[in-house]
Amino acid sequence: MDRIIINGGNRLKGVINVSGAKNAVLPILGASLLCPGINVIYDVPSLKDVEVMSSLLEYLGASVSRNGKIITVDTSNVEARDVSEELMRRMRASNLVLGPLLGRFGKVRISQPGGCNIGSRPMDLHLKGIRALGASIKEQWGYITAEAGRLVGSEIHLDVPSVGATENIIMAAVLAKGETIIYNAAREPEIVDLQTFLNKAGACIKGAGTSVIRIKGVGSLHPCKHRVIPDRIEAGTHMVAAAITNGDITIQNVITEHIEPMVAKLREAGIDVEMENNTVHVRATGKRYAIDIRTMPYPGFPTDMQPQMTALLSVTPGTSLITENIFENRFKHVPELHRMGADIKVESRTAVVCGVKKLSGATVRATDLRAGAALVLAGLAAEGTTVIECPEHIDRGYENLEEKYRQLGADIYRERV
Ligand code: EPZ
Repeated sequence: MDRIIINGGNRLKGVINVSGAKNAVLPILGASLLCPGINVIYDVPSLKDVEVMSSLLEYLGASVSRNGKIITVDTSNVEARDVSEELMRRMRASNLVLGPLLGRFGKVRISQPGGCNIGSRPMDLHLKGIRALGASIKEQWGYITAEAGRLVGSEIHLDVPSVGATENIIMAAVLAKGETIIYNAAREPEIVDLQTFLNKAGACIKGAGTSVIRIKGVGSLHPCKHRVIPDRIEAGTHMVAAAITNGDITIQNVITEHIEPMVAKLREAGIDVEMENNTVHVRATGKRYAIDIRTMPYPGFPTDMQPQMTALLSVTPGTSLITENIFENRFKHVPELHRMGADIKVESRTAVVCGVKKLSGATVRATDLRAGAALVLAGLAAEGTTVIECPEHIDRGYENLEEKYRQLGADIYRERV
């Protein structure tokens, strides 16, 4: 078992690079199933979730090789095999093979992904979409089986702008007969990146990034090469690292438009943020202000940054209100922050955060990816030593996080126990 050890109190200073976006790579790896042949994806981070998705593609018959940040995926010999519970439970995003397998083979059988630490995370909207395209769906024995002759384009209205449902419907619709329109589609930048990849492969998709996406079915797709966008949540996490340590960090390889919601909130909290081209400079020198945060679908404030901001506001003078509107159980980091002296009360979907002068180091446990990141940030600012157990959650979404922060002056390392 590994543990991360942090001796807090150092101000982070210097330059840090952002890796490729995990939540762009995962759907694009799924989409490669629709493009028989050798696909090449650049700027792929070394993450646990990418390994899990790669092994899922290999289980389905693809051959996947990696050379540094480049992944080559040959999907010529893929088959529509059942995706077992063991595979699905390793990562919820495994459900992103649903749309492509149905689109390419007209049938797919995956185990229900089950909930996870941040909520029940149903798939009803994914199924509503593929049913509208003509698939017959059976949910039995914990499995979802979907079959269709040829899928036929349709109009689909999503009750909630679900990222995964939008992605699965796009991937099921690209080879369908006729046009599909998705209303109330999710607008996240990772969906625009998926559209870019698929259009390079010969698809005809318009509107990603807006709430109406139109997909004109085509006969077939061919393999392609694609560089994924930078990870906006990693960039936001580093911005909070600068803020919480009163540091001064320059973050490179960002698309500034993608981080606007976080920049706005950090500025409101008194943090100095300057953006220029693909760089953002964050300095925490002045007065701090308590603020209110409500997580919303993009372009609102991202739920994936809520735990990190909770850590920052727990040492910001005044009372801040944080409302988690996306997932019903995404405050698991709060009991861990309590162990470090944070004063936070959670009532249903709202956390009332009363800033304290200092957090104190403690032994805490990462419960999920972003909660783990929040504990690293809290440890960087805390007085004394923080020990973070279960860092494998953090490894799912952050590449060499300790190394990156050590280079900025943090006293942080990993030990094997
Ligand atoms: C994606 O998850 C991201 N994961 C999540 O990032 C992110 O938190 C989430 O979008 C929201 O932005 C990937 O892209 C791999 P949703 P996804 O479907 O697609 C409800 C991280 O830390 N819903 O947009 O699973 C659902 O319960 C991860 O990187 C339904 O009701 O999220 C939730 O309340 C965590 N029915 C809301 O929609 C459905 O069929 C948003 O979920 C689907 C979703």
